[in-house]
Amino acid sequence: MTLQKAETNLANPELKKEDALELVGSLNVLLSDYSVVYQKLRNFHWNVVGGDFYDVHEKLEEEYLAAAELIDEIAERIRVMGYKPISTMKGFLEKANISETDDDHTADQMIQAVIKDYKALILSMKTVVKHALAINDYGTDHMVREMIIRTEKKIWMFQSFVK
Ligand SMILES: [Fe+2]
Repeated sequence: MTLQKAETNLANPELKKEDALELVGSLNVLLSDYSVVYQKLRNFHWNVVGGDFYDVHEKLEEEYLAAAELIDEIAERIRVMGYKPISTMKGFLEKANISETDDDHTADQMIQAVIKDYKALILSMKTVVKHALAINDYGTDHMVREMIIRTEKKIWMFQSFVK
């Protein structure tokens, strides 16, 4: 009985744990991408200079606080599926499609970098949705679709800012 429970995919009880393997793989990529983006947002928050300082400084804080919560959602979803999320900086950097950056950016370049990273995040999110739907995991599908909607809206806002 206990063994059966351990092998069940908790998020989708009619599935075996291994059915979620591909989905957990793409969730780990999204988790890693988001973790790199989180640190980039803080980097830019700390190091922005110039006339737009207050606006950019504040907005980037809003974004990294939101990112921290979404990262937590993704990692805990992996736990719900019965797996362990990548949890180290080394692991994130190895798995992420998005790369780190230095702090030598103008405010506009920082926002452009955020837009580029948010577009890359959406690609990782769409892969998760694809894998979630393949195993009828509507919970993960719903969670990540909400992230897509939020991220698309932020891209629009940041694009309007740098126009
Ligand atoms: Fe701060």
